[in-house]
Amino acid sequence: AKYSFDDIVAESSKMKIAVSQAMKVAKTPATVLLRGESGTGKELFAHAIHNASDRKHNPFVSVNCSAIPESILESELFGYVGGAFTGAKREGKKGLLEEAHRGTVFLDEIGKMPLILQSKLLRFLESKEIAPIGGTRTIKIDIRIIAATNMNLEKMVQQGDFLPDLYFRLNVFPIFLPPLRNRKEDIAPLIHHTMKKLNQEYGRIVQGISPDALHRLTSYDWPGNVRELENVIGRAMINMNIDEKVIEAKHLPPLIPSESEDFPHETFTRGSLKNIVSEYESKVILTALKRNNWDVQKTSQELNISPRTLYYKMKLYGIKATR
Ligand SMILES: Nc1ncnc2c1ncn2[C@@H]1O[C@H](COP(=O)(O)OP(=O)(O)O)[C@@H](O)[C@H]1O
Ligand SMILES: [Mg+2]
Repeated sequence: AKYSFDDIVAESSKMKIAVSQAMKVAKTPATVLLRGESGTGKELFAHAIHNASDRKHNPFVSVNCSAIPESILESELFGYVGGAFTGAKREGKKGLLEEAHRGTVFLDEIGKMPLILQSKLLRFLESKEIAPIGGTRTIKIDIRIIAATNMNLEKMVQQGDFLPDLYFRLNVFPIFLPPLRNRKEDIAPLIHHTMKKLNQEYGRIVQGISPDALHRLTSYDWPGNVRELENVIGRAMINMNIDEKVIEAKHLPPLIPSESEDFPHETFTRGSLKNIVSEYESKVILTALKRNNWDVQKTSQELNISPRTLYYKMKLYGIKATR
């Protein structure tokens, strides 16, 4: 595995908690479930856990369950014996689980694993044995599983899209990696970390960031999390002249501004325009009320409507003070 805990930037208390949990579980053989939006560092954590475990000299095998077509995923994971199916290699093929014997397997995007394979994986977790496709023999293997997902597995279980027993097997030790917008203290240290990394890669000597540029990056919402931050810093550095040492606002690529903390990246319900507009209107009113500390007079002035209209709409949408 490429990364260790030294490569993880964690300034916020939320991230420090995640790191200390990961360090503790690394020393045990327990299955780990990493949860978090895309780009929050799940893969990085998987590497770090493996590298801090007593399996660190053994293989780390990474499998992205959504990138491999369903038909191939099974033979990739479990392997097959010679002549198992048309197109199979004559000598057969070892599966990735077997390749990882005594090491760690990282099952990325586990929520995308098809049900059939989920049950085969579950059988493996229960028996610690795999049965290569077309074979009659089972093979005992010793691996540590680290799984990752950005999907709501609980909801998937309820809807019958994820096997409950597999869920319980995987959810022994969940670690939540919070989105970057909820731990803004990490943004500045991550920028410096990324600058150093890219200085080495590009042979540059970028040293800092202007207050103005930093302000723009900290007020942004980062839907793509740390991955997106790395891309933005990389693009800024490409925009800089070779003799410039400080990232300034003019170097930054355009960022989609976050309108309001209360409903970023909203996708509105489908349906009639009237309903969609009503939904939006009720959110605008709620946000404005909160901003004005539930002062109806002030809020109605800001929205340029009469207090009577505001009261009417609050009643219509069932908006009540929630202080
Ligand atoms: N806390 C962190 N400290 C340093 N780099 C990070 C951190 N979190 C994420 N990264 C970097 O951001 C990028 C995306 O992380 P990754 O682990 O691939 O996220 P995920 O698997 O959750 O999509 C990688 O280049 C990773 O090294
Ligand atoms: Mg990933």
